[in-house]
Amino acid sequence: MELRIVIVSDLHAFAASDLKAKQPSPSHLNIALPEDQPTRHPIAGLMKLIEELQLKADLLLCPGDMGDRASREGIQYAWKKLHELKERLDAKFLATATGNHDVDSRGKHSTFDPLDILKNLVPPYPFADDSSTNEYWAAAFSVTEFPACRLVTLNSSAYHGNTTIEKNHGRITDLTLSKIERYLRGRKPKPVNLLLCHHHPQQHSELGLGEYDTMHQGQQLLDLLGSGSLGRWLVVHGHKHHPKLTYAAGSSSSPVVFSAGSLSAILYAELGTAARNQFYELTFDLNQISRFGPVGRGRSWYWASARGWLPAPPGSGLPAHFGFGWREDPLVLATRFAPLVKPGFTPWDEFVNAAPEVAFLAPGDLEQFIAELKGEHSINVTRDSDNSPVEVGREI
Ligand SMILES: [Fe+2]
Ligand SMILES: [Fe+2]
Repeated sequence: MELRIVIVSDLHAFAASDLKAKQPSPSHLNIALPEDQPTRHPIAGLMKLIEELQLKADLLLCPGDMGDRASREGIQYAWKKLHELKERLDAKFLATATGNHDVDSRGKHSTFDPLDILKNLVPPYPFADDSSTNEYWAAAFSVTEFPACRLVTLNSSAYHGNTTIEKNHGRITDLTLSKIERYLRGRKPKPVNLLLCHHHPQQHSELGLGEYDTMHQGQQLLDLLGSGSLGRWLVVHGHKHHPKLTYAAGSSSSPVVFSAGSLSAILYAELGTAARNQFYELTFDLNQISRFGPVGRGRSWYWASARGWLPAPPGSGLPAHFGFGWREDPLVLATRFAPLVKPGFTPWDEFVNAAPEVAFLAPGDLEQFIAELKGEHSINVTRDSDNSPVEVGREI
């Protein structure tokens, strides 16, 4: 049995009326864009791709920033489009965490409630049922239980609009941490445990992206989830617009941290050519989880101007195909599996059938594994145009 998740983050939808004279567009998602042009409209392009590839998902996750700079029309548009995507994917559930751009922290639209736009969305935001929504606003998190999956949706933007400094970063409070801990301690972990939030719970400052905006006390959240007794966790966040997959600091039970790239924002200049707009599908095979622990596989697509969504090439962020969860040292793994490779080339899939842990190496670990095969064991791996391994063979 498989659990499939699609992630679309940081849409930053806007209306032309939000912009001042000569202000550049913040994203590719102008709400007035004609929806019959799937190579120009990121959501229309996504709908087309879902149709062509027959993509299905159990959960659709959005880690926030639906609109840009509290654009009322942008937020309303993105919320509607997320529901259309959920339908198109046949997803059972849509979960959204609040982004800093979704909160009217500068009082553009309401002088008394920075959440006014979100609270008035139709269908209700962020959950269809009132009790989950009330819990989310009151306690800054809500938990949704599925047979094989637990999902914690955390509002890391909960204090935006309170004081001027709070809008510059995320936060989880001691109270929220203790409430999450109390909830999790009373329940058996699920095979898949997910936490969805907007801000990064650990520093993510490379490429000049800055250290100021991290989720305050995020390290304590990661330490709690990674303590070992509460299950194995995948944290999905947005905000940085920089795709990255890492393991949090701590023991080998530390959470996988998935920094989703932006679906449609014009990327920060600092990112240069290091990232493009992306979206993701993650697959958890429950049989493989019971055999190998908390492992999974993923696919990425990137937005190619005037061409639509294509499998992610090198340099666009996360690769077209990737794994996560198997933390064995790739150099040790190369020594372990090198004897399986015979002279002449064999298909990569055949090799991975005999060495299944390789499918769950994180992108950086897979590169080290392939480099070690070549450097120490005279084994070559050929790649296709999106850099996915195709064949593996030993030099004679
Ligand atoms: Fe964003
Ligand atoms: Fe953000």
